[in-house]
Amino acid sequence: MKVGIVGFGMMGRQIAQVFAQHENEVSVTDENHESLGLGMDEIENGPYGLKAAVARGKLSTTDSSTVLSRIKTVVHLKDACAHADLVIEAVYEDPDLKQRVFQEIDSSAPPTALLASNTSTLTLTKIAAKVKRKERVLGMHFFNPAQATKLVEVIHSRETAPETIQRGLEIIKLIGKTPILAKDEPGFIANRLGLTLFQEASRLLEDEIASINDIDNAMKLGYGHPMGPFQTADLVGLDTRLRNLESLFHATGDQKWLPSKALREMVNQGYLGDPSKRRGSKGGYYQFFRIEPRTEPP
Ligand SMILES: NC(=O)c1ccc[n+]([C@@H]2O[C@H](COP(=O)([O-])OP(=O)(O)OC[C@H]3O[C@@H](n4cnc5c(N)ncnc54)[C@H](O)[C@@H]3O)[C@@H](O)[C@H]2O)c1
Repeated sequence: MKVGIVGFGMMGRQIAQVFAQHENEVSVTDENHESLGLGMDEIENGPYGLKAAVARGKLSTTDSSTVLSRIKTVVHLKDACAHADLVIEAVYEDPDLKQRVFQEIDSSAPPTALLASNTSTLTLTKIAAKVKRKERVLGMHFFNPAQATKLVEVIHSRETAPETIQRGLEIIKLIGKTPILAKDEPGFIANRLGLTLFQEASRLLEDEIASINDIDNAMKLGYGHPMGPFQTADLVGLDTRLRNLESLFHATGDQKWLPSKALREMVNQGYLGDPSKRRGSKGGYYQFFRIEPRTEPP
């Protein structure tokens, strides 16, 4: 299968790698041309990249070069989409931007191509408002880091054709993931649940009921989550978290999605999450509040 990816930031890179590792030809583009080189470097050398997979014995060195050779970077969006069977959009979580990009993808991709968005919170109805082939639009919501996480949410709007949903589910299984299906409602399944937890964690912190360490440990040690809600936010990226909450708030008008003051402050000051995952970030919750992660009793 030929896959076009528009937006080669954190998620676009991960998704490109996953498809290339499953024998698909991938063309990627990004309006920031620097991102193209940085993205390829991350796919090769990043913490979940190909060298790391070789080091863990999951991939041979020869296979890793084959995987890398399946990913082509192109400067223009139309070249990423021209021969694609599937185009996945992974640009910033901004409804107007996504709408514009989707329209451009629609006029560049072959008429039979499926058009997917990796949006975390926006509705397909909004994003694809100006797309002609609405029956071929679906959501494919990957989870960070896509190389390691098994889940992909497949989203369908009222206009998505049953064959598109079917093909979407098949594609997700072909790349070794488990799909779950959700209707086109803000936040879908996983983010509605995950962001609810994060918002409650932020309230516990803001009301000084508990410390960051203890809130994270509550979910790790008490509920068996691999990471606490603040650690998850640091991994996802705090700017992405902020955009997700703002978009849920705008979409629903529900106060429960209003971002906390601390989150806004961190993003304004350049604390965008884990610096090993987010280039240029000053750190995440633990660095901003100057605390050491701790699992032992206080
Ligand atoms: N970060 C996460 O953990 C995560 C998880 C699941 C889904 N998502 C969703 O994936 C999408 C991308 O998030 P991200 O974290 O990769 O963001 P990011 O900021 O790392 O990357 C976005 C990329 O889009 C590029 N871009 C912006 N406008 C463009 C345009 N007109 N044409 C081409 N490229 C353009 C930017 O240059 C940037 O490289 C968002 O919708 C986000 O909500 C993010």
